Parts: sequence; C-alpha cells; structure tokens
Amino acid sequence: MCGIIGILGKGDVTDQLVAGLRRLEYRGYDSAGVCTIVDGHFDRRRAEGKLDNLAKKLAIDPLPGHIGIAHTRWATHGAPTEDNAHPHIVGDVTLVHNGIIENFKELRDELSAEGRSFASQTDTEVVAHLVARELERGKGPIEAVKAVLPRLHGAFALAMMFKGHDNLLVGARLGAPLVVGLGEGENYLGSDALALAPMTQKIAYLEEGDWAVLSREKIEIFDRDNKPVTREVTLSGVSGAMIDKGNHRHFMQKEIFEQPVVVAQTLQAYLKPLDGKVALPIPEFDLAEVKRVTIVACGTSYYAGLVAKYWFEKFARVPVDIDVASEFRYREPVLEPGGLALFISQSGETADTLAALRHCRAEGQKIAVVVNVPTSSMAREADLLLPTNAGPEIGVASTKAFTCQLAVLAAFAANLARAKGKMPADEEREIVKHLAEAPAALNAALAHDEEIEKMAPLVAAARDVLYLGRGPDYPMALEGALKLKEISYIHAEGYAAGEMKHGPIALIDDSVPVIVIAPSGPLFEKTVSNMQEVAARGGRIVLISDAAGIAKAGEGAVATIEMPDCHPLIQPLVYAVPVQLLAYHVAVAKGTDVDQPRNLAKSVTVE
Ligand code: F6R
Repeated sequence: MCGIIGILGKGDVTDQLVAGLRRLEYRGYDSAGVCTIVDGHFDRRRAEGKLDNLAKKLAIDPLPGHIGIAHTRWATHGAPTEDNAHPHIVGDVTLVHNGIIENFKELRDELSAEGRSFASQTDTEVVAHLVARELERGKGPIEAVKAVLPRLHGAFALAMMFKGHDNLLVGARLGAPLVVGLGEGENYLGSDALALAPMTQKIAYLEEGDWAVLSREKIEIFDRDNKPVTREVTLSGVSGAMIDKGNHRHFMQKEIFEQPVVVAQTLQAYLKPLDGKVALPIPEFDLAEVKRVTIVACGTSYYAGLVAKYWFEKFARVPVDIDVASEFRYREPVLEPGGLALFISQSGETADTLAALRHCRAEGQKIAVVVNVPTSSMAREADLLLPTNAGPEIGVASTKAFTCQLAVLAAFAANLARAKGKMPADEEREIVKHLAEAPAALNAALAHDEEIEKMAPLVAAARDVLYLGRGPDYPMALEGALKLKEISYIHAEGYAAGEMKHGPIALIDDSVPVIVIAPSGPLFEKTVSNMQEVAARGGRIVLISDAAGIAKAGEGAVATIEMPDCHPLIQPLVYAVPVQLLAYHVAVAKGTDVDQPRNLAKSVTVE
C-alpha cells in the first residue's frame, strides 16, 4: 500500500526521496509525489501512474531542498489522479499519509461548514486542514499535531513538514507502520526499513499511537498520551542489495528460484536433523494445554493456513478453525479458554489479520504468529513468534514467503503433536527427515521451468482456467488460481476436485484449461475420476503429478508436468513451484506487469 519517506538531509534530498520511493514500489501504488522546502516555501511535484512519470517531471523541473517528504499512493478515497496524489499542502503544512481516516466524512463536513474548501477527494487532505487550522489558531507545529492526532479515527502513518521550518519533520503512526531512521547529521522517516536501507540501518520502530519529532540533531518520540518515550534502536540488517533482481527478469522470478535456499534457511531454525527433532522457540504457555487452534490470515497466507489445518489435525489431533481475516471478527467466533490463535502473514502488517489478532488477544487466546518481517506489528504482539526466513519479498505475488510459511507450519504441527503426546519419537524423526528433503525437491521442481514456459501459451489464450485438487492439494488449487488471476488477469477458480460436479463442471468446454494437481497417493484415483469427467466434456487437462501418476493418467492430458517423487508432507511445498511458474510465464506471455500487477498492494494496511 502507500509508501512514505521523509528526509532531513545535508544536501538536496529529492534524488534520495525518489530512490526511496523506488524501494517502496513493491508495496503497490498508482500515483506518486514529492515535496521539499525551498527558501522557506513548499515546492512539490506529483504524477499519476508509475514513478517514471514523476521522474520525468523532476527531470524537466528539478526540485532542490534539503528537507523533503515523498509518497507512493494506493488509491482508497478518490481516483489515482494528480490532484489526489500526496503530498497534500494546506496553508503552512504539507503531509503524506498511509491508511484510512475512517471519520473523514464527519471531519470534512465540520471543516466545510467553516468555509474550508478541498482540492482533492482524499481523506488525507482533511488531516492537512485540521493541522493547518490549528496553525492558523496560533499553535506551533508540534502543538498543532498534538491537538489533531486524537481526532483521527482509523489507521494512519503520517509524515509532515511545516512552512518556514526546514529542520523539522513530524511523524505519527496508528495502525500503519512507520519507522524512524537515524543518520549522521541526517534523520529519516519511512514506511519500512527497506525504504531507508542505503541511507541507514539504524532504525527505531514506532509503536501504536507514537508520534515523533525529528530534527537533524535529535529525535524525540512520544506515546499516545504524549509522554516522552524511548524506542529501541535496532540494526535493520536489510541492505539495498536485497532488493536487486540479480540476473532475473522480475522479482517474482527471482523469488520463485530462491525457494530452495530460503526454505533451507527457514528450516535450519526449526529442525535438529541429528536429533531427529523439531525445535521451536519455547512459548511462555504450555503447548500441551492447547485445546483448539484458530487460524486467521488473508490471501496466500490463508492458503498456507488451509494446508496447516490438515497437518495440525492429522498430527496433533487438535481441532482447527480457519477463517479469512476480513470475515473473522464479524462472525463472533467462539473463542474458549485454552485456545491458540495462529496468524500467518508475510508482511505482518495486514490490517484485517492484525485486527483479528487483537480481537483474539482481548478474548484471552494465546497468540502465535508466523511472519516474514520480524519487526512487524504482528511479530511484536505475539506470544510465540515463528519467523519465516524468506528475506524481503518484493514481487506483489507471494511465492517464497508461502513455501517458507508451509515449512514453519509443518514443524509447528509436529511440535504441537509431540507436546500433546500424539507423536512418537520415530514419527517425529521421519517428519524431520522429510522436511529436510524439501530444498532438494524444490530444486528438482524448478528444473521444469522451461517446459512450463513452453506450455504458457495454452493458458495465456484462455478466458477461464480451473484448478482442481483434493486434500492438501485443494489449497494448492486455490493458490494456483490466485497466482494466475492476480498477475495475468485471467479468470481462474480453484476447486476441490470432488466438488466440481456440483457446479463448475458447467463451465467446461474445449476452451477451458483445467490444471489438475494430483500427486500419487491415497486420493489419486479419486482425483483422476474427476479428471476424466473433465476430459469427457472436452476440457483441456494439464496434469501436475509425479512419474507414477503421469504414467497412470497422463494420457488424457494435453500436457503434463512431472514433479519429483516426494513424501506427502512436503508435496504442498513442491507443488507450489509449478503453479507459481505457470502463472509467471503466462503473465510474461501476456505482457502484464508481473511484479506490480494493477490494483494490488503488497502490504494491505487498510481493512
Ligand atoms: C497473493 C498475495 C496476497 C497476500 C495477502 C496477505 O499472492 O500476496 O494474497 O498473501 O495480501 O498478505 P500478508 O501475508 O502480508 O498478510
């Protein structure tokens, strides 16, 4: 979603601001802007669309200034036009915002009644008006911000500058992330540490309700009660190099190919192969006491949760509820004592998932979090933090974070099973052995890249595509369909193979490719029967299976993708690769924007 960067620099800052925005591009946006202070006055450039449009404007009309704020906007209130792009300037304040001001209508009506007029349709401009009004009433910048923050409901990260104050940046956060970066004679604000990576790795993460006052010489942070607070300064460990495509054409492709390495590096933290044991951080609560697990997540992370439900129930015999986060709170879920709520998220900032986490905390659940950004809000609110060590995921479509989530969840399921006395040592040893085989199996799956690229035109020409699977391959069908639709814009549905004849079979004809995910195993024959129902109606089948499966059922398919033989436990990780590669190559064949598909944001910080 929106990206924020602010710099109090020693020299001109516009180039650094735009470079920072480029590092935030991955979050998804549809317009951008930058504002500096030149000779005590604001100077601003904004543009619709990609950053290149802003860069072109800046090339024609450069922007000097040693202090500046900049923004990539993902439209919520108002179309992605230049007028709606941030920074917004009202009187003596200019600001950028990430999030949604939920009471903006009421605030806008109040301000309109006083005769104030608006230059945009955004909720953000309302905040600028509120601050400007306080300045007009004679308050200084800091007092003005202090007066306005309590009036804002919803989620926000804000960065503000004030006319005539070229050594002052003010930031504030509630429900959307904002970090403070500490430099040498310079200081910074950013949506994340990655935005600031080449300038500084010294980062203080603002907490909920915090606001910060920055000059070049010092940083002061206040909590929501306006009490001065100290927030730990940590070394972010992220470098600009981490957001380089290397030899790959897209970040998504790079991230797909990183999977053997990042899954290995994730598993390293969770397995003790020599002891034949899984080894998770020890929680402050007793896992043996867990009576029910409630999994909540969104999108691809939710599909990882669907796979995990099979594992938790199979290994630990603990009942599992699972919900998409946007539905969870509103169905008044029953959360009994002894429940563990498990949240899965790449970013750790997804607004719905975070809100569900807080709801579960308030209902007395223990909180476990599987997250890829260890400094994220969810990570900081967990009782049991289970990081995925996938490294920064820049492509909007989640790939490597997903397989790393699966790796962690498999280890967690085994750990819970052991704690509950449901997993004998020899079974645990087997699980550890098979999980340790995952990186090699992922490598073998990646070896089919070229073959998958060759079959991309078959899918690229389609209007609709179906994905079918059973058991843990059903979530993989959902994931395959999500990957395809989000980056290639082809309509795709994932279905439980046995459910197809209850409706979607009506769609089948010779223009509909049907991707069947069916490794050999106890459910194979049943899935093949469903596949035959598709073939009988002229559907064009792409079968993803292993050698034995393809030998048995490959004949009816227009194409097959052969995965390595692997244990059922790691099949969801391995079978993620062909569905990711297929979506990737179809998108490339269609010429879509693979890394930043239209309308999508990487980190969804609004509900
Ligand atoms: C799909 C995708 C999204 C995310 C979802 C949750 O490729 O990336 O569906 O999985 O927005 O995001 P996180 O995992 O950051 O909570």
